[in-house]
Amino acid sequence: MKIIDLRSDTVTVPSEEMRAAMARAEVGDDVYGEDPTVNKLEQAAAELLGKEAALFVASGTMANQIALLAHTERGDEVIVDAESHIYYYEVGAAAMLGGLQLKPLEGLNSEAGPGVLRQAFRPANIHFPITRLVCLENTFNRGGGTVISREVSKEIYDLAKERGLFVHLDGARIFNAAVALNCDAREFTRYCDSVMFSLSKGLGAPVGSVLAGSRQFIDKARRYRKALGGGWRQAGILAAAGLVALQNIRRLAEDHAHARLLAEGLAEIPGLHVDLSQVQTNIVVVKVVGRPGAAALAEELARQGVKCNVLGPDALRFVTHKDISREDIETALSIVRKTVTKI
Ligand SMILES: Cc1ncc(COP(=O)(O)O)c(C=O)c1O
Repeated sequence: MKIIDLRSDTVTVPSEEMRAAMARAEVGDDVYGEDPTVNKLEQAAAELLGKEAALFVASGTMANQIALLAHTERGDEVIVDAESHIYYYEVGAAAMLGGLQLKPLEGLNSEAGPGVLRQAFRPANIHFPITRLVCLENTFNRGGGTVISREVSKEIYDLAKERGLFVHLDGARIFNAAVALNCDAREFTRYCDSVMFSLSKGLGAPVGSVLAGSRQFIDKARRYRKALGGGWRQAGILAAAGLVALQNIRRLAEDHAHARLLAEGLAEIPGLHVDLSQVQTNIVVVKVVGRPGAAALAEELARQGVKCNVLGPDALRFVTHKDISREDIETALSIVRKTVTKI
């Protein structure tokens, strides 16, 4: 039985072209700054994001945590969305590694974000921690892959700057946002001091993320990467895959079209509810109305060959990616239809 794996865009496997590029990659010792392929990837990524410099790291979580460390001092407060990856899925690392207090806000990663942020500001007072950093997530994973518009990104950035705060963008899927709005990623990244994006999600590389910012920030970030054990040697083998992955930016629109097709099909199935206005990129969040509940449905779907993630007691997440074809979407829809009626 063919498995249609819609759990995440992290499940993609490297293409033949990527494997060939990895095999012939020119390499050196990256801790000495001597890996030409890593240097090439970092330059290409900095250019794409409109930043002075970039740093290739092992994962999105590592990139976010290095950014938090490089922007802050122990005891500082960092403002995040209550559903953000940094707050929800990073093992409490901000406290564990940085001694940071996260301030989770409902609705920060949304059109209401600027108002939400304004409400969170406090006057200077010896009782309060020093707020240092605001983190945004675009696209917003637990929000269903929604895009924070350029206007809202700018408003939040301007507010942060009025208060002397840094802005870090968790842009694991920033190119999905750019493709969705048919614009350059720099139209988002100009409104942040640092940004990270994942090579190993929709772009299809086996490993890696990139953190970008000013030269000074990246020099500091490089030291933190080393401290976290992330100084790697002939990493050009991985960076070569990353360079091929950058070419996949142009095919993300296909994933978005597949997500739309899937969402529209799922929305027609009695017992499921999809807010189609929230389906903006490659993620589809589905509410499971009444019985049997999201977990039981996901389990049965997996037995029938369709894998998805459980987001909560009544919510499932389906993510499209380069290894999913239109035909897979059609097959998945027919399996979900049958399973929901049967169970
Ligand atoms: C928005 C967002 N940020 C960060 C990450 C972390 O990336 P990684 O799994 O490479 O640590 C993810 C991964 O799913 C994500 O969705």
